[in-house]
Parts: sequence; C-alpha cells; structure tokens
Amino acid sequence: MSIPRIQRPRRLRRTASLRRMVQETQLSANDLIYPMFVMTGENETVEIPSMPGCYRYTLDLLLKEAADVYNLGINAIALFPVIPYELKCDRGSESYNPNGLVQQTVRALKQALPELIVITDVALDPFTTHGHDGIVDEQGRILNDPTVEILVKMALSQAEAGADMVAPSDMMDGRIGAIRQALDENGYFDTGILAYSAKYASAYYGPFRDALESAPKFGDKQTYQMDPANAREALKEVNLDILEGADIVMVKPALAYLDIICQIKAHTQLPVAAYNVSGEYAMIRAAGQQGWIDEKKVILETLSSIKRAGADLILTYFAKEVALMLR
Ligand code: PBG
Repeated sequence: MSIPRIQRPRRLRRTASLRRMVQETQLSANDLIYPMFVMTGENETVEIPSMPGCYRYTLDLLLKEAADVYNLGINAIALFPVIPYELKCDRGSESYNPNGLVQQTVRALKQALPELIVITDVALDPFTTHGHDGIVDEQGRILNDPTVEILVKMALSQAEAGADMVAPSDMMDGRIGAIRQALDENGYFDTGILAYSAKYASAYYGPFRDALESAPKFGDKQTYQMDPANAREALKEVNLDILEGADIVMVKPALAYLDIICQIKAHTQLPVAAYNVSGEYAMIRAAGQQGWIDEKKVILETLSSIKRAGADLILTYFAKEVALMLR
C-alpha cells in the first residue's frame, strides 16, 4: 500500500505542450545584446583564437554583420575597438578623438541602421599602453578622479557620434554621476547609461583581452574591479550607480555570479543586465569542439539560467547563434 500521491509534479511534464504551458522562463532575441569588435582597415575579418566563431571586423564588414544581426531580431550591439598600438598612450587620449575608430563606427552604424541600438564601452584599457582602465601614477596606482575626467570626455564624444547608450566598464568611483551630469549639460538627455555596476576582478576576461590586445602590462585590476568573494558590495555599487543616474545596471561575469544577479533583481526596479563574458564563451566552445558536450543545448541552458536568475538583458557572444536557434 502506498501513500496517495496528491501532488504529482510529473503531471505537468507529461507532454511537450504541457511543459511549454508551464515554462517559467523564455529566451527571446529581445533579451540579447551582441558584443562586436571593430578594427581599423578595410574588407578584413580576423577570428579571435581564444574565441572561435568571434571576429574582429573592419568597419565596412562590421556594418554588414550588424545588419544581419539586426535582421535576426537582435536590438542592440555593444561595440569594442581594437586600437593600433601607435595610437595608444599612457592617458588613453585617443578614446575621445571625435574621429576615432569608435566614433566613426557609431556614426556609420547609426546612418546605416538607425533602429539598431548602439552601446559604446567607456573605459580606457583598449587605449592605454599599459592596458589599465585608468591613469597610472609612478607607483603604479590607478588614479580615480583624473580617470573620471577622461571617461567623461570619452562618453561625450560617443554621445556626440550618436551612441544610444554609453556603458562605463571601468569601475572608477563616481563615474556614472559625472557622465550623467556632463551628458545632461550638453543636451544629451536621451543618451542612456548602462552601468557595469558589479564588475568583478575575474579571470574569465582572458579571451576578451586577447581580442583587444588590452591585457594589463603590469599588476592586475583588483584595486578597481570587485573581489569575487563579495555579494553585499555588489548591492552597494548598484545603489550608488542608481543614485548617480544609471538606466540599466549590470553584473559581470554572469555564470559564476548568478546569485548576485538574483539579489540585484530583487533589490532594484531598473532593468538588470548580465554579461556572459569571453571566458564563459570560450569554455563552452572548447568543450563543444571536442565533442564533450552538446554545444547548442548547453548554450540555451546557460542563457536560460542567466535569465532565470533575474537578468532582463544578456550580453553574449552567442547572441547571433541563439537568435537563429530561436527562429
Ligand atoms: C574592459 C572590459 C573588459 C571586458 C569588457 N570591458 C575586460 C576587463 O575588464 O579587463 C570583458 C568582456 C569579456 O570578457 O567578454 N573595460
């Protein structure tokens, strides 16, 4: 004799339509933001060795790729530049050149695809010879306020070029407020800020630094990016960014930080983004290439878990592939 099973959860798993009906999380192309790498030159793409399936594009080819991406239903791209070494300096001044690579690319994108949301990265590391996200003094310290002054110029030049949102990924204190104020003072009330609020000093960024040739030449980023051990500090950073004027707050990386995404979602009414970073991408690709996992299923499961944890938006190098799968 068995106890009557009044609750039988399996009842709702019996058929595909039942499972669809009770499914709690659905991925959509609308959730995805596609990070793209732009380089100088013409008619050339270079695959990033540690990110198979991801390329650096020259502007002409990036425009074509962005059109494909938009036609797949992806609303937004996040743009990262590969800056030739001769344009780098210790203060990253090329970052606010009105005719710099990012600024030119934004103008061309907004002209060709006015509806595609263009998000620009605000951080100095692609532009500095030393690869840090800020100004460095003789002792190797990263100087906060002088860096923020440059970030403000950079964000303004991106807004002037037509960026829909600027995305400070540098983790300097006070940069969101300083950028919001400068944008407003210059009439860019509608330029949004996607704040990398809880950005951790993570080892998962390695392949991205290969892509941009931006790895720090000395030291690490632990005096500005967050300690992976901290959760309450993420809420503190989010609180500050909200007070300073962020429109969207972000957690980065995503997979090892699902608990942080979940807590931030419960904590704020702003949209929450998560960055499924280069190292997360590389691990899945590598295992997929070896035939050790069912890559497509792992990609969908991974992105669903990020959304289930509370992310409204996901920056992912899988965006194009996933949009195709979701069709
Ligand atoms: C730098 C920046 C990084 C990433 C985005 N912006 C790397 C870093 O902080 O060193 C990483 C993205 C990825 O790994 O996919 N401001």
